[in-house]
Amino acid sequence: MKRIGVLTSGGDSPGMNAAIRAVVRKAIFHDIEVYGIEHGFQGLIDGSIRKMELGSVGDIIQRGGTMLYSARCEEFKTEEGQEKGIHQLKKHGIEGLIVIGGDGSFMGAKKLTEKGYPCIGVPGTIDNDIPGTDFTIGFDTALNTVIDAIDKIRDTATSHERTYVIEVMGRDAGDLALWAGLADGAESIIIPEMDDEFDEVIERLKRGHDRGKKHSIIIVAEGVTSAVDFSKRVEEATDLETRVTVLGHTQRGGSPSASDRVLASRLGAYAIDLLMTGKAGRMVGIENNQLVDHDILEVLTRDHAIDLDMYRLSKELSI
Ligand code: F6P
Repeated sequence: MKRIGVLTSGGDSPGMNAAIRAVVRKAIFHDIEVYGIEHGFQGLIDGSIRKMELGSVGDIIQRGGTMLYSARCEEFKTEEGQEKGIHQLKKHGIEGLIVIGGDGSFMGAKKLTEKGYPCIGVPGTIDNDIPGTDFTIGFDTALNTVIDAIDKIRDTATSHERTYVIEVMGRDAGDLALWAGLADGAESIIIPEMDDEFDEVIERLKRGHDRGKKHSIIIVAEGVTSAVDFSKRVEEATDLETRVTVLGHTQRGGSPSASDRVLASRLGAYAIDLLMTGKAGRMVGIENNQLVDHDILEVLTRDHAIDLDMYRLSKELSI
C-alpha cells in the first residue's frame, strides 16, 4: 500500500487530532503517502482531498476538535454517494481509507468495505458507545469536562441547598452519565440502559433530605429525557427547589486528556499496521489495555453494553 486517506466524521471528539497525527506520522515513517479528506464523507464526495506532510500535523496533539473538520453526511448513505466517494478515492490513487469517528461513521466505512474498498475504523466519540473497544477517543476528556462542571455546580448547590439536575450527552448510551455520576458521587444517575426508576430517585431524595442532606445531584443522560422535564417531575413529587444545567457541546471541546492522547496515538498507529499487513474491513480498539481489531461488519451488529457492576456500585455508594 503506497497511498492512503484519512478522514474524521460525525461528532468531533478531543483526541481526534492526536489520532490524525499518529496516522500521518506512522504512515510516512513507513514510506506511505497520506491524503487528508476534509469534512468527512461529504468532503470525500466533493473531492476535498489534500496531501499531508509531517509538518501538516505539527502542534495539533494538544488541540481539541479535528483539523480535518467533520460533518454528518446524508448523501453518503445512498448508493450514489458511496460510488462518488469511491470514484474520488480511485482518482487520487488512494488505496485504503482510515475513518475516525463514531458508529455513524463506521456505517460509511462498512458500506465501502462491502463494496470491496479497504477501510479501517478508529473509534472517536465522546459517547463511548462503540462495541469492540473498552474506550473511544474523547470519552476520557469529556468525562473530565463533566466532572469539572459538576464540581463547580456542587459548590453552589451546597450554598443554596438545592437539587441540581444535570443533563449530559451520550446519545443512546449512558456511559458518560454513569462514569461521571460515580466519579462525582451523584445521588442518582438516569441512563437509557436501565428502566425508569423515578420513584426510587424520589425516595432517595426524601431519605437524604430527612437525614439532613442539604443538596443533591441528579445526572440525566440525554438519551432518557431532558433535564428540564426531569426536574419538573422532581418538583411535582417533592417540595425541593431544583435547578437545571445542560452541559451541551462544552463536553465535546477542550484539550484532550493524556489518556485520550495516548489512546489516539496507539489506535491511529495500529490502523496503519493493519493496512500494511493487508488487513481491511477492520475496526481497531482497546480491550484490557491491549490493542485489538474486529471485523467492522460484525462489530456493528453488536449492542453496546453498559457496565452493570458500575451501575450497582453507584447505587450502593449513594444510599
Ligand atoms: O455523538 C456525539 C454527540 O455529541 C452526542 O453525544 C450528541 O447526542 C450529538 O453528538 C450531538 O450532535 P450535534 O453536534 O450534531 O448536535
